[in-house]
Amino acid sequence: MMSAGPAPRVNPLQRLWLREIGIEKTWLRQDASSGSGKVSATRPANTQPAAAATPPQAVPAAPATRMPRPAIPGLAAAAGAAAAGAAAAAPREADPDRAARVSHADLETLRGMVSGCEACGLCRGRRQAVFGMGALAPRWMVVGEAPGEQEDRQGLPFVGRSGQLLDAMLAAVGMNRQDDVFIANVIKCRPPGNRNPTPEEIAACRPYLMRQIELLKPERILVLGRFAAQTLLDTDATIGSLRGRVHILRAGGRDIPLVVSYHPAYLLRSPSEKARSWQDLRLAARL
Ligand code: URA
Repeated sequence: MMSAGPAPRVNPLQRLWLREIGIEKTWLRQDASSGSGKVSATRPANTQPAAAATPPQAVPAAPATRMPRPAIPGLAAAAGAAAAGAAAAAPREADPDRAARVSHADLETLRGMVSGCEACGLCRGRRQAVFGMGALAPRWMVVGEAPGEQEDRQGLPFVGRSGQLLDAMLAAVGMNRQDDVFIANVIKCRPPGNRNPTPEEIAACRPYLMRQIELLKPERILVLGRFAAQTLLDTDATIGSLRGRVHILRAGGRDIPLVVSYHPAYLLRSPSEKARSWQDLRLAARL
């Protein structure tokens, strides 16, 4: 069980960011001093070291609409697992040798493997693979879908309009991509014309993401969009059913709290969903 902790505060800068993402009325108190730039969040509940392995469990928390304080894990793993563990249509890794190399790589070796990867056909159309960027001891890991055109050009994740919105969302909870967060995608190479990744492409790329998570040891993971959520949680459940509660991803012998939310590209098309996305951010920040 978690204690409620001090109520978070929001400073004037964060208020501006919140307005930017369509949130006029926050659930946070105004910060008396505008200096800190951080919204305080309670620390995650202690997680027990786990044996190893990777298969995810979903653990339901209170619905995100109950903003003040969700009840989190510990309880009822089975109910959530039914949602998250049910499906998993994606094929598994086809090259065991590569999987073994990935599972022993350090971060720089992994970066090199990703930039030279030819495990699926996406390598033929890419300018460069996009490994990810951010803090090397991140509070959060943010996981998106795949690079778009700008990301493919620059070799960095979320640098287009979606990225601007993501930065605004992170700023609203007092974080930025250099100091607090590592941003990565499920798929490291741009699918032609930004089409949806195929199950084979996802299966080929998934080991890289799992190794990134193991090495970076984020305190929690924010997963943006359907593909990333379904990949990490090994499910074909809808995003509507996955968001609004806390899942647990087991990676590198640790149980990592994971929150699913809408992809920023979807929020740009459907601004009315920004309020729900703010609820998800608050849920992740409050863990
Ligand atoms: N969308 C994503 O999912 N990832 C990016 O890096 C950019 C856009």
